[in-house]
Amino acid sequence: MSTDPTTEATPLDAQIDTVQTEIDTAPLTSADEAEAFRIRFLGRKSGAITDLFAQMGAAPPEQRRALGQRLNALKARAQDRIDSAQAALAASGPSAATDLDLTLPGRVPAPLEPGTLHPLTQTLQAIEGIFRGFGFSIAHGPEIEDDWHNFTALNFGPEHPARDMQDTFFLEPPPPEGRGVVLRTHTSPVQIRVLEGQKPPVRIIAPGRVFRNEAISYKSYCLFHQVEGLVVDEGVTFADLKAMLHTFARAFFGGDVTMRFRPSFFPFTEPSAEVDIWWADETKPGGGQWMEILGCGMVDPNVLDNVGIDSERYTGYAFGMGVERMAMLRHDISDIRLFYENDVRFLRQF
Ligand code: PHE
Repeated sequence: MSTDPTTEATPLDAQIDTVQTEIDTAPLTSADEAEAFRIRFLGRKSGAITDLFAQMGAAPPEQRRALGQRLNALKARAQDRIDSAQAALAASGPSAATDLDLTLPGRVPAPLEPGTLHPLTQTLQAIEGIFRGFGFSIAHGPEIEDDWHNFTALNFGPEHPARDMQDTFFLEPPPPEGRGVVLRTHTSPVQIRVLEGQKPPVRIIAPGRVFRNEAISYKSYCLFHQVEGLVVDEGVTFADLKAMLHTFARAFFGGDVTMRFRPSFFPFTEPSAEVDIWWADETKPGGGQWMEILGCGMVDPNVLDNVGIDSERYTGYAFGMGVERMAMLRHDISDIRLFYENDVRFLRQF
């Protein structure tokens, strides 16, 4: 049995034992319990350990060192329990029982929504599909054209008003000052490019973008799309043209379409016509209006001569339709400018 006063049990030792048991067994399962625990054992005014430290001053001096060590260990033990309880609470999420809603979507970046084809692309594809079914193939030409293909070969005289600066975006001034390089004003130059490289029978459509320096309004824009059509063969007549356009319109609009041919003029067709579609609109006087969708006619013999095709043997028809107009009629769109604004509230509807 030891008689060393520094290791003898003191009354304070018994209290320390009791407090230690309490520290080891106190429940610590919530933030509230952790805070109550901290106040009960480590509180500055009446915490149990704080109390024991205060009592240490009354112990015999030779025992104080050992008591101090025990009390420091006890304090660390209490703090340890608080720390591990808080760590456990943090790991189980913010008050798991109350705030966590497992049915909410995960906090991930907004998923990318799949886009859709632009309504003009959809319309072009529909037009192409119908003409493919009639045995037409698809031709393309450049959007920057020269004077020959855009005007001269198409029988536009040098003074023709369509060459006017008002209508045409010139990249180089017209002859004699320049070469007359233009943003093509129509898809008809593709007629020339095809006929320069291919002998009849010819049966093509040529879709693409065209440009005109026009006053912008609900039905006109400085850029738009056309689909050119060209058929050249022996014995082609205006009746063939009319039948083809009627059949096409029924296929495109789905049966009930009112269409009219109006005599017109184009330098490269003779005779020429413009085709209108009746656009029913109850808000308009008369219940609607005629909407021009295309120009057409029999290929002028001068055009065939310009590309070295025997105009005594071959005849042909041509047409050029406005794709925006077709899309507007099909989807009841009231303003051509909507196609170019890229507003997803518009685009999402198609
Ligand atoms: N190119 C003409 C236009 O843009 C349309 C057209 C094409 C007319 C083919 C007749 C034949 O107005």
